[in-house]
Parts: sequence; structure tokens; C-alpha cells
Amino acid sequence: MLVTTPSRDLATGLVSALSATTTGTSPDTSTGPGSAPTDGPARVVIDLDLPGATISRHLYGHFAEHLGRCIYEGFFVGEDSALPNTRGIRDDVVAALRALRIPNLRWPGGCFADDYHWKDGIGPREERPRMVNSHWGDIVEDNSFGTHEFMDLVELLDTEAYVNGNVGSGTVAEMSEWIEYLTRADDSPMASLRRENGRDEPWKVPFFGIGNEAWGCGGNMRAEDYAALARQYSTYVRDQGGDPGNTVTRIAAGASDDDFAWTEALMRAVKNLEGRDGEAGPYQAISMHYYTMSGPWEDKGSATEFSQEEWYRTLSRAARAEELVARHSTVMDHYDPHKKVGLVFDEWGTWWNVEPGTNPGFLYQQNTVRDALVASIHFDGFHRHADRLIMANIAQTVNVLQAMILTDPESGALVLTPTYHVFAMNAGHQDARALDAHVLLPEEPAEVDGRALPMISASASTTGATALVSLSNLDAAEPRTLVLDLRGRSVTGHTARVLTGASSAAHNTPEQPDAVAPAELSDVRAHERGLEVTLPPHSFATVELQLAD
Ligand code: AHR
Repeated sequence: MLVTTPSRDLATGLVSALSATTTGTSPDTSTGPGSAPTDGPARVVIDLDLPGATISRHLYGHFAEHLGRCIYEGFFVGEDSALPNTRGIRDDVVAALRALRIPNLRWPGGCFADDYHWKDGIGPREERPRMVNSHWGDIVEDNSFGTHEFMDLVELLDTEAYVNGNVGSGTVAEMSEWIEYLTRADDSPMASLRRENGRDEPWKVPFFGIGNEAWGCGGNMRAEDYAALARQYSTYVRDQGGDPGNTVTRIAAGASDDDFAWTEALMRAVKNLEGRDGEAGPYQAISMHYYTMSGPWEDKGSATEFSQEEWYRTLSRAARAEELVARHSTVMDHYDPHKKVGLVFDEWGTWWNVEPGTNPGFLYQQNTVRDALVASIHFDGFHRHADRLIMANIAQTVNVLQAMILTDPESGALVLTPTYHVFAMNAGHQDARALDAHVLLPEEPAEVDGRALPMISASASTTGATALVSLSNLDAAEPRTLVLDLRGRSVTGHTARVLTGASSAAHNTPEQPDAVAPAELSDVRAHERGLEVTLPPHSFATVELQLAD
């Protein structure tokens, strides 16, 4: 089955050599989740004693935009809400996300970021000016959730802030003052203003975005024009001194999908890439965005009602994310062989048609077992590219696109999605070291959407004392038995968990919150090569191994 991949408002000018393989007609097996043939049973071969790059915990990052019911109702209900809250922030949402150990939270957008003027969101709430949220529903935003509320949320979550600045409609001075307001300790004008608004200590802001999607909603710019602005704006996002000080990773707004020319323009504009001394500058990372959908942009498909063909097409498109990471990394390698500049995949996930009856501008969608496998496939790819990929942010955390948490608009009841459970089951990969996981399958991979799609996706990591193996069975209908061929270290014990549902479209609701929830995977047996595991159809599993000294 060959289906054309959708493209969003792409900039022109592709890097032809790279693009050719992503748009060709024969299945591409050069990047992305691979498998090799074998005469024997299906196997995943892991050398437990050969750890590779560290998988940054920031690959499990999050995103909260002023969009639909993400901030308002999702995170923030106000102090007067009947729902238990701390200074207006929902306690149940905080508890659920703390359990995930979310490493960072991006805010305030997305497209909203390039309309946002941060000074409108400080000071007494009743005096804050209003604005129009033109991208998302064309509604009036009252700015009641602003800088102090966001940083309060960050502290309650025990996470790190990724603040996204405004290039499209903002000024250099505005951006410069925001980082001063956030992170400066002394009595500078902005630090004093922060104190007047009730916060004495500076906050830490380790990540700062220099605009968003500058090729589209962030200003409709050409790559070279934006690259020049990214250099200029980044210069004024200063590390503020003081004790203990704040060091910022500045993230230039990167490409959509396979726009490698955009990445190349940004890489050409970075300074200090020669040699090992000296920091890259004036920005230290560049981003990329790619969303998974089963149809074209105009009709992305239903979140919950899909055919088997759409199931496989969706998973193939999820696998394309790794291919894109690999190819953007190749462009970066050319200019930056020492990997001084990080790649930040700060918007990824499924994008379906909105749930029937909901505001089309609010991007509210359900989340099924299919979304869970989209997430697990992304993570397998992220782990394999941990040497260049320093951060990733799913879009978005609550009530928007591929959310972790859905809240009921009437009762406020909170539901954890299948995607939430993948993040929870994979949490042990955070800051562990990647292990190669070679997938060997007796059958040829299916060709789906112009891409070879093996029915097993896998990745692994180790902390030294333990190893974590993630396994996805992409087969919609059949279970899969495979051998974990474990080499190089002795395994002294294991625990295994599985996530699946009665159907590939199973999902959680307030009435059935655990229709898709992790359970013990009992179908694991000792095998002469390690372990033999049977995965149910359309399932995700993790096997944690205890390793001998
Ligand atoms: O996540 C929704 C939107 O998708 C973001 O605001 C924008 O950056 C992207 O186009």
C-alpha cells in the first residue's frame, strides 16, 4: 500500500540528496527502525556490555500551549475552583505528571508564542490586558496564567522550564527583558519588577526558544532571513550572572518535516563550530517539528475510528520521525562534526481530526492504543539518536493533540491516556545509556506508505545495574513471540509489563479509566539465549533486567 505523506506549508528548496530517499517510491530501509532477516525465531539481540550515548531525560519533555483547554481547565482552574488546587493549579494533574518525572515543560506555545507579550501576563490579574488568541479559536485570552503562574507550575511539577520567546511579533528588547526578569538576582530593573510582583528569588530557565515555526505561523519567513534574526535575538537572551547564575540553551526555531534546507540555513549561521574549544553560538540548539496523521492535512483521520490500513499507515508515518531525525542530523553533522549544536524535536505526536462536537480550534482528540504505539516507536528512534537529539517535547500535555491527560469539561474528571502509560513505562530510559537492540525477523518487513515496516520495534538502555528493554508489537491482529538474545552480562532477574487493550482503538474514558492500563506481562520464559517473550497483538511492553556485577 502506497500513500503519500502529508506535508504542511513546507518551505521551498530541499536538500535534494536527503529528500530523494524520503520521497522515493521504493521502501527506504537506510534509516529508521530496521530489522534483519533470520532463519530462526524472531529475536532482539542486545549487547548489555556495550553502552552508547546517554539518553537525555529531556527526550521525555512536554509542551503546554495557550490552546483550547490545555492551560485553562487543563492545568489552571483558578483558586476559586471546586477542584483541589494549589494557587489555581490542579493538584491531580500535578500529581499525575510528577509520577512521570517530566523533565521539562515548554510554554507558552507553539504558534501562540509569537503573539504573546509577556508583560501582559504579570502583575495583578484583574489589571492584566486582554488579547486575542488568533491561532486557536480566535478567543479572548485574559492573561490570567502568565510568567509567575507558569514558573509556579514548573516548581510544583519539579521540572525545568523551556520558555518560548516571541520573534514574529515581538522585539529584541522584549525578549532580552524577559530573560532578565526571569533569571536575574540583583536589583536590575527587571529583577526589581519581578520582586514588586511578589517573587524575590530568580528562577532557573535552562531552555529558551527563539520564536516558533518561523517558516509559518511565526512570521512566514525565509530560512536565511530567520537565521539572521535568530542570531540577533539569541545574542540578547543573556546568561545572567549572580549566584548560582543561570545558563540558557537557546533553541532556534527549526524545520517542519523534511525541510532539510531550513536546517542547513540555520547550521550555516552558527558560530564556533570548528574544533572542540568554544561554545556554539549565538544559539546552541535547533528544533524540528513533525506530526503523525493517517490522512492528508485537510482530513487527518479520526482518533478512534480507523481501519487496519490506517493503523499501519499511521505506524509507518510514526517510524518516519526517526528517518527525519537521522537526516536532519546528517545535515548538522556536515557543519558540526563535534556535535556542539543539539537537535530539539520540540513538537511531535499524533494530530487527528478534533472530536466531533468540539471546537475545531481547540485540537481536542481522544487517545488510543494506536497513539501509545506511535509514542513507543518515536522513543525507540529517539534512543537510537541520543548523541544528537538532546530534547523532545510531545504535543501536548493536557487536552490537546496527543495528550497524557484528558479532563472532562463538565465534571473535571481526569483520565490518563495510553500515551501517559508509555511515558511511565519508559521512564527508566531517562539518563540511562542506550544499548543497540538489533531486531531479527523471519519474515520480510511489510511495505507501508513507501517504507519498510517491521512488525517489532525495540530499543534498550542500561544504568549499569539494570537494563530496560522496550518492545512494541505493531501487528494489529496477531501475537508475536520473540527471543531476547541477551549478551555480555549475566541477567539475575526480570520484571515485565504490558500495555494493550481489547482492540487497537481501545481508549480510556471517565467511565472506563483503565480500559488501557499497564499490567504484568506473565508470558516471559527463560530461554538458552536469554528470555522468550510473547507480546499480545497491538501492544507495548517493557522488560526490566537486573544485571549481575
Ligand atoms: O501544537 C499545535 C501547533 O502545531 C503549534 O502551536 C504549532 O507550533 C504547530 O503548528
